[in-house]
Parts: sequence; C-alpha cells; structure tokens
Amino acid sequence: MAEQALSEHGMTWGEVFDQLIRRRGERIPYQSGQYSFFWRKPIENIWLAAEKAASLYFGETYIGEANLPSQAIFDAEIKAMVAELVNLPAGGHVTLTSGGTESIFFGVKCARELAREQGRAAPGSARRPNIVAPSSVHCAFEKAASYMDLEVRRVAIRDDARADVRAMAEACDEHTILIAGSAPSYPYGLIDPIPELARLSLEKDLWFHVDACVGGFVNPFFRELGVNLPPTDFLVPGVDSMSADLHKFGWAPPGISTFSLRDGSHQRLQRFHFDGRLWQCGDYETDTLAGSRPLAVLVATWTAMKMLGRGGYLEGARRMREQIERLRRGIATIPELVLRWEPESAFVIYGSDELDTYAIANGLNAHGVPTVCYPLMKPGIHLIIDPLETDQEVERYLACVRQVITEVKDGQHQATGQASTYG
Ligand SMILES: Cc1ncc(COP(=O)(O)O)c(C=O)c1O
Repeated sequence: MAEQALSEHGMTWGEVFDQLIRRRGERIPYQSGQYSFFWRKPIENIWLAAEKAASLYFGETYIGEANLPSQAIFDAEIKAMVAELVNLPAGGHVTLTSGGTESIFFGVKCARELAREQGRAAPGSARRPNIVAPSSVHCAFEKAASYMDLEVRRVAIRDDARADVRAMAEACDEHTILIAGSAPSYPYGLIDPIPELARLSLEKDLWFHVDACVGGFVNPFFRELGVNLPPTDFLVPGVDSMSADLHKFGWAPPGISTFSLRDGSHQRLQRFHFDGRLWQCGDYETDTLAGSRPLAVLVATWTAMKMLGRGGYLEGARRMREQIERLRRGIATIPELVLRWEPESAFVIYGSDELDTYAIANGLNAHGVPTVCYPLMKPGIHLIIDPLETDQEVERYLACVRQVITEVKDGQHQATGQASTYG
C-alpha cells in the first residue's frame, strides 16, 4: 500500500527507472528473453522507429482536424491505407478509435440509430432492441449493449464452432437491430460464415457488423497467400461496418483500432453532435468516444504502416502461416495432444483428451511460459501466433510442451480446473 501512495517529495528518476525495469521484466516476459505465444512482439526496427516517432509528438493532444490541421494528415493517411486494406468501396468512411471495444461500440450505435430513424427501437419502448450474434462474439458487444440498453441474443454456435446462420435467423424478430459475426472469433480463432450472415442481414434488412479486430489485417493477406478463406470484409455485399484493430495485427502500438462504414453517409449515425448553444463554446462534434487523444499513438501507427507497406504485411502473414504449420506439425508428433480446431487465422488452440489440459497449462506457466487455457467446447490452450517468433523459439516451445507432458504424467502439475481469465 505504502509503495502505491503518492510520496511526499517525489522519487528520483533513478528510483522510478529501477521500478520500471523491474516491473517490465515481470509483466512482459518476452522482453526478458523468455518465450511466449501471447500478444505479438513488436517488429524490431519498425517498433524502434515508431517509438522514436511517438517521442517526437509525446505529450501532444489530438482532438481533431479543426484543432490540428497540420497533424490531421497522419489521421487521413492512416484512414486511406486502412480503406485499401479492408476493400472499402468509394464513399465509405474509416474512423480511428482507441481499440476494438470502441470500434464495436460504433457498429452497435449505428445499427441502433438507423433502427430509430426507421421508426423502430424508439427510446423507452416496451421491448428492448436486440443484437443477434453467435455465442462466440467478443464481450465488447455486451459492453455496447449495456451502455445502450440493448439485449444480446447469443445464439449457440455449430459443432464446428462457427456461427449457426439458420439458428441466428430464427433468433431474429421485429426488435432485432443488428447481426454480428467474427473474423475470427477470439475464443476459437475461426471465421464465421460472413457471406451467409451478410445474406441473412440483407434478407432481413438488418445492419451487419463484422468484428475483424483480430483478422482485419491478416485475413486478406492469408487469402493472397492462397489460404482458402472466405472474404470477410467489404468485398462481401451486405457488410455495413467492420472493426479491425491496428494495435493487433496492424503492427501498431496499443491504443488504436479502426471502425469502417461501407456507406459514408451513415457517419451521421455514429456521430455525437451537440449544439454550440448548449455549452457556449460552439458546436461540438465527434466520431469517437474519447475527446482528447494522444497524437503520439497516431504518429507511431502512421510510421509503422508507412515503413511496412503492403510487402511488410504480406511478409508478416507469410511468417504467421509458417509458424502455424510448424506448430501443427509439432503438436501432431505429441500423441497426448490434439489440435482443437484447424487454425484459420491468428490463433492455434490445442488440448488433450487423455491428460488434463489445465494441468498442461499450469505446467507451462510453471516453466515460465505464460499460458492461457479456456474452457471452450473442450478445454484449449490458446496461442496467439507471432510472426516474430523464430523457428528455434517455436521448437523450444514444443520441447517445453513435451517436457511438461511427461511431468503431468508424473503428477508434477495438478489440474486446477480453473479457466484463465480474460481481462
Ligand atoms: C475478436 C475480438 N474482438 C474485439 C476485441 C476487443 O478489442 P480491444 O481489447 O482492443 O478493445 C478483441 C480483443 O482481443 C478480440 O479478440
């Protein structure tokens, strides 16, 4: 407690620095030389450049174009690059948000405002408007629904862990305002049948949001590499909006995601507008939840994207496929393990039907490999693929898994039966 209190005279930079370094080692294992399949490592040279770029603008606030027109060029250029990556047609619109949760919030808000414009979902109506989504969608939809007093109808996914389009159709009623799907979902790393969900939304005249927070900047490159994936972006007619996180596989630092609208005129649904007479400072208009935002994140993102170019994204995706293959082959050589689902995007999920998967996860954690294990349909160890892991690191990981399997058989690691907590 004492350590957390505001000290009377302040600490020296040296004292603070020591703590920063110590805590960094505790929290970010890969930076202290350990290996992890958790969130990705930065691409070294690009990360350094992005850090430098951010430091040039550190402490500067970005409120919007009106306040910093010369800096708005970063914002505009990121949006243009994103529009190309998500195949946004002419007339579409991209907003830079603080993260996937905020991007999803705007998908839900647009759907609700459109329903209101159409005379449905009136404020205070007896029945709450609802969102129909596969049970695997991210909890960000619940957050948005909770803010906007909506119901989320989580429809059981199929045995193959993807959205059940027929069951979702049945779950829709006259109070439904939005259909959602993931590309991929966080729990299973699998892509929902986006074209079929889009058709359903067109048939029912409902808003369709694709949550591609994880896959938005991966899926198109996997397709380019010949992986057999359905289109998951605006190439699919019926996709109204999409979330894609730059701070995941867009290779940007934390704090930036994108919300894209096929029809730019729908920005009116997203926008918060307050009449200047209300607060005596002129009109207040914003397309984001945050007001003041750090310009440094924007500039670092711009730097990373400019340096990567299409080739950099393609190369990242190629490395991810290689790592997935290497892991798949390695897991296949361990008789006690099974791949839970055929990896499709940025995740590999495996478990054991013979041994307790939680015990294996506990063993890996005991060996200093941060490991999460979720209950899912069957308990699964959840790996987030990182193209920067070297082949040797993946082999080292597999060797550690083999070691842990023998230790679990010897009773050295117990199953707590406890799932990892997300968040
Ligand atoms: C599929 C998916 N959607 C949305 C989110 C939420 O993103 P954020 O944590 O950036 O708000 C995540 C986060 O992992 C995710 O995996």
